[in-house]
Amino acid sequence: MGLVTSKEMFEKAYQGGYAVGAFNVNNMEIIQGIVEAANETNAPVILQVSAGARKYANPIYLKKLVEAAAECNQKAGKDIPMVLHLDHGPDFETCKDCIDSGFTSVMIDGSKYDFEENVALTKKVVEYAHARGVVVEAELGKLAGIEDDVQVNEKDAMYTDPAQAEEFVKRTGCDSLAIAIGTSHGAYKFKGEAKLRFDILEEIGKRLPGFPIVLHGASSVPQEFVAMCNEYGGNIPGAKGVPEEMLRKAATMAVCKINIDSDIRLAMTANIRECFTKSPEVFDPRTYLGQARTAVKDMVKHKIVDVLGCDNKA
Ligand code: G3H
Ligand code: 13P
Ligand code: ZN
Repeated sequence: MGLVTSKEMFEKAYQGGYAVGAFNVNNMEIIQGIVEAANETNAPVILQVSAGARKYANPIYLKKLVEAAAECNQKAGKDIPMVLHLDHGPDFETCKDCIDSGFTSVMIDGSKYDFEENVALTKKVVEYAHARGVVVEAELGKLAGIEDDVQVNEKDAMYTDPAQAEEFVKRTGCDSLAIAIGTSHGAYKFKGEAKLRFDILEEIGKRLPGFPIVLHGASSVPQEFVAMCNEYGGNIPGAKGVPEEMLRKAATMAVCKINIDSDIRLAMTANIRECFTKSPEVFDPRTYLGQARTAVKDMVKHKIVDVLGCDNKA
């Protein structure tokens, strides 16, 4: 099947009351871990590349690595649908570059602009993308935390206004919408109790029936990885994510795409730290990166089966 857009994936996810996982990719081991997990659970999967990932790895490398994963699957007779998506596209030019180079989906993140500017920019990307068979995710509302180089404080985070969301989708023609209901990027999401505004999600679902909603900042920050990091020389006390039962609830509602990056970082770091501490004689990167890749695979399988519910939906 190779690379596809997320259109049919989201239609099925909406009807079926589950969500598709969108995992951030930065290198070969991450891509392999995620794709192996999706293969073993027969799940659709979205591989997403941020502007930071493009800067780190070089856009050509990442695209070719994802294409390699699709080619290996084809050769092995594995038929899972995969989307290659731009995460938090900062401007029209980056979206255009990804569309021109074979991405099947792009996000234009105009949430830093005011409503009218966000509408205008999103519309421009939608026109360019749709003419080339590519789908577009947009964002309305601000998440707390770090988005690339932009730091949004908790008090400045703005929940998405449901009436504005309805108007935004109708005026821009975007294919999915990222909303702010209390999640945030990174590993420190809540100081006290975790709280998400399911009332806002429900109201948006009513105003835009059948329309796919995206949840960013949706890592659950597994406490076993936090403990491993801290035990083996790390220092990330108090890291806390979105409880998995909240993600499951969102997946049964209008949320069709759930974004996960921090959990991949934690799984890799915890395992590499453990390897360095327990086996100080190891200096072959394949040993510790191999262990990290297995940890990514196991974590993604758990998400697919126990949280997102998209296993056997390929
Ligand atoms: O939304 C943020 C993602 O976790 C990507 O992070 O910009 O550091 O690659 P990054
Ligand atoms: P996390 O930091 O919660 O993994 O969020 C990732 C994300 O939203 C990527 O766009
Ligand atoms: Zn995000």
